[in-house]
Amino acid sequence: MYILGINAYHGDAAAAIIRDGKLIAAAEEERFNRFKHSAGFPVQSIRYCLSAAGIGPEDLDHVGISRDPSAHLHKKILFAATRIAKLASHQIKDRLGNAAKVRDLKDELARLFGISKKNLRARFHNIEHHRAHLASCFFVSPFERAALLSIDGFGDFISTMWAHGEGNSIDVLGQVEYPHSTGIVYTATTQFLGFPHYGDEGKVMGLAPYGKPRFIEQFREIIRTEENGQFRLNLDYFRHHAEGVEMTWDEGSPVVGRVFSDKYIDLFGPPRDPGAALSDHERHIAASLQLRLEEVGFHILNHLHEQTGLTDLGLAGGVAYNSVMNGKILLNTPFKRLFIQPAAGDSGTALGVCYQIYNGILKCERGEAMTGAYTGPQFTAEEIERSLLESGLPFECYSDADVTKRAAQDIAAGLVVGWFQGRMEFGPRALGNRSIVVDPRRTEMKCILNDRIKKREPFRPFAPSILEERVGDYFEQTHPSPTMLMVYQIKPERRGEIPAVTHVDGSGRLQTVSREMNERYYQLISDFAALTGVPVVLNTSFNENEPIVCTPQHAIECFRKTKMDVLYLGNYAVRRAK
Ligand SMILES: [Fe+2]
Repeated sequence: MYILGINAYHGDAAAAIIRDGKLIAAAEEERFNRFKHSAGFPVQSIRYCLSAAGIGPEDLDHVGISRDPSAHLHKKILFAATRIAKLASHQIKDRLGNAAKVRDLKDELARLFGISKKNLRARFHNIEHHRAHLASCFFVSPFERAALLSIDGFGDFISTMWAHGEGNSIDVLGQVEYPHSTGIVYTATTQFLGFPHYGDEGKVMGLAPYGKPRFIEQFREIIRTEENGQFRLNLDYFRHHAEGVEMTWDEGSPVVGRVFSDKYIDLFGPPRDPGAALSDHERHIAASLQLRLEEVGFHILNHLHEQTGLTDLGLAGGVAYNSVMNGKILLNTPFKRLFIQPAAGDSGTALGVCYQIYNGILKCERGEAMTGAYTGPQFTAEEIERSLLESGLPFECYSDADVTKRAAQDIAAGLVVGWFQGRMEFGPRALGNRSIVVDPRRTEMKCILNDRIKKREPFRPFAPSILEERVGDYFEQTHPSPTMLMVYQIKPERRGEIPAVTHVDGSGRLQTVSREMNERYYQLISDFAALTGVPVVLNTSFNENEPIVCTPQHAIECFRKTKMDVLYLGNYAVRRAK
């Protein structure tokens, strides 16, 4: 039985496919069409999923999308009735058009493949957005029973939903409705601080440790916690609920209009212009926002624990990309184990749709837990060699045993190494298959990476990958973080050893690497440890201000236009001419 899941007409459009409950493939559209966080319909991701499964669209048994225009409909109508007079007519048209597209999924799929609708025998499903998130963090988790939390901006009129998962069912225990949303507060403040692009929230998270939470009382007034895990925004500070905010979910990167209101400016002063120098005032706002998000997150989670009595937690939704908050969950709540699916944000709802249909609706037995994030395209040695020959670049080829040793030597020698191996990752983090890897012992590597390749804001940290069994030697916490979605404190005595991956507050957003999850990457770090005594490398995504590379051609192009020193593609290596 084949099930295709889709996230469409929303940021991070994506597709996933499963066969008899086994995950065959999942990928984000941005990797193919090269628009960051691409919205629209995930045409190329769907093509890729079908080809990875070796089937055509007529072979699909079920197709689902992570939107349900009829879900929470009474609330949507009630809300619209009170606000509609304030919405511009084009905004109403946009929203209706979007809902209609979601309903016409079968038409869209038939049109895409140039076939008649009657040749599609699949059953079509609309899966409510947060149920797709919840499914994505439970049905592929290692837990038989778990507390579950989906927390994000909004989707299907809900911002936050929590549940009890057991076997192949998920029972919703509570929710917070639009317009009350932690994700929206984070987005509004991110815009206010001069980071206007969709997905810039991570920058503010990186900025927060430079400030002090001087405005925490103001943020406690902006988001108020209430009984039973609930919270409410003081809506005077926002525009999204009253005037509506322009949002574009067409092909290309999503665009979100200004969310904060004039009252927000009265409170904090004028917003920062993008590109202007950052002040301590802005750093303190970032720190206060981050602290308040953590307080509200733990407030919901502590209530969820009370309701369920469970100590295993599955977490999903865009706010689950807040790895600083995630890293503190085990310290601030009774939860003991945590599963965060690598594509915790909206792209992961494509995968959640597949499992909500397979386990939740069809009541099939659950299969293996998801380890790693390696569900994207891969390329044979012949395909890589062909790309290299076409590029005209001189290259060498090493044995399996030599390739990690040579790369480890290059890293230890201070070179910037492109590391392109196996299947592309699903979700925003490069986890050792589409990575740029450098020596974490060298303080200067942060500047070198920023100057030569990444062109990122200098305050943003770079992340460590560490051998899983050595995590306790370097970090204050030891719970595995295989998808790089947890930030822990680095032990004070180790910070000087790995300065390039130690953030200003002594933290690191680590990826723990086991041999079972990624044998070649594990070997690379082991070889680096054998040379240097340090079982850690700096791992940043393989890209230059663009979506992470997908194909060997993308990697070669990135190598050419940046000042990377060496590019490893499978067992092949290209060196920059001196
Ligand atoms: Fe979402």
